[in-house]
Amino acid sequence: MSELRFRVKPGGRLTGEVRVPGDKSISHRSIMLGSLATGVTRVKGFLEGEDSLATLAAFRAMGVAIEGPDNGTVEITGVGLHGLRAADEPLYLGNSGTSMRLMSGLLAGQSFDTTLTGDTSLSGRPMKRVVTPLSAMGAHIDTTLNGTAPLVIHGGSPLHGIEYDMPVASAQVKSSLLLAGLYADGRTCISEPAPTRDHTERMLSGMGYPVQREDNRVCIEGGHALSAIDIDIPADISSAAFYLVGASIAPGSDLLLQHVGMNPTRTGVIDILRMMGADIEVSNERDVGGEPVADLRVKYASLVGVEIPAALVPLAIDEFPAIFVAAACAEGQTVLTGAEELRVKESDRIQVMADGLATLGVAAEATPDGMIIKGGAIDGGSIDSHGDHRIAMAFAMAALRAHGEIEIHDCANVNTSFPDFVAIAAQAGLSISASNLDATA
Ligand code: S3P
Repeated sequence: MSELRFRVKPGGRLTGEVRVPGDKSISHRSIMLGSLATGVTRVKGFLEGEDSLATLAAFRAMGVAIEGPDNGTVEITGVGLHGLRAADEPLYLGNSGTSMRLMSGLLAGQSFDTTLTGDTSLSGRPMKRVVTPLSAMGAHIDTTLNGTAPLVIHGGSPLHGIEYDMPVASAQVKSSLLLAGLYADGRTCISEPAPTRDHTERMLSGMGYPVQREDNRVCIEGGHALSAIDIDIPADISSAAFYLVGASIAPGSDLLLQHVGMNPTRTGVIDILRMMGADIEVSNERDVGGEPVADLRVKYASLVGVEIPAALVPLAIDEFPAIFVAAACAEGQTVLTGAEELRVKESDRIQVMADGLATLGVAAEATPDGMIIKGGAIDGGSIDSHGDHRIAMAFAMAALRAHGEIEIHDCANVNTSFPDFVAIAAQAGLSISASNLDATA
């Protein structure tokens, strides 16, 4: 078996102009809703990463004609809400939690059965959070005894709307129920304990499907239709985050990130970095197909530790590996609480980041729901990313401030969200190389 390993030489700075790949969340939704629409949905800026490609392959396997991706362009000939057909085999969704949770809701409304499987990480992630409310809507879904995948979703069960108070702030749960709600009799209403990304709601509305939103509650009613639209996907702020942190911590950096998605449910990382003293300038703000977009110019700044406000946690949920690296370079202490969700992401991001930072000589203490980090010197060292794309990319950026080389193991999953990470990072000034090694050697 081979293993992808990054080696990053210490020091350097990030300069120039970079456009990171398309937003992963919006890419998934473009395939799902484009498939269920009437007409041809034309997508630009689609993320050609393994996660969104898994969604694309799954809908192709259910009979949807999808052309591309070709340089970020995809054309989906929608089959309408009732036009999907059973796949011949179980649908393998790789590492992608978004595919599995959103598709569970959508597939619960079909007339046929579907089996969803994933890799080792995805097969260990909690699925009861969607299965329980979907069952309350009338769905029949089998999980393992642990409430994990493989999931067998039995079609043909009539769904009815429910009123659901989500116990965790999760856009994946909310979206799964909204997609089931397309097929339900009556209204499905979901209340969230804190705002989470609202790309599903925006795209549904953009495709002409009525969605009611008020404060922390969103409602949808079955029985309407989706019309195909053109979708221009902005660069993923979650991928841009590594560069925001890299440029903020590396003296002499001055980097322009182009066409970044600035949906207010996603911009917590900018708020947190600015609280720490980061120099991030937002310009050229515009609306692209119902999603706000801007260019971000980030320059080196000396950072200070902060207590991260609880309200920002769901708005920066995927960015904490990068934010922890910023905290390691900040003067003073950074405290994160209320982020226990990080323990059930692609890896246990609290433990894996605390272990990696400790390896580099950083005082990082994992707590049940967050982390306490004291900024200071960063040594070189050898890090295990545990197959988590965002852990690998975060530690690559840490090398900009390290005193020795950082070697990062198990990096192949960077391809799930950011296939060009190494090339773009190298072009911006990171001394990074990637090699495929024989893991048994
Ligand atoms: C996502 C929602 C978030 C996020 C994930 C993508 C989405 O998960 O962590 O990477 O596209 O809806 P939760 O909603 O479970 O927090």
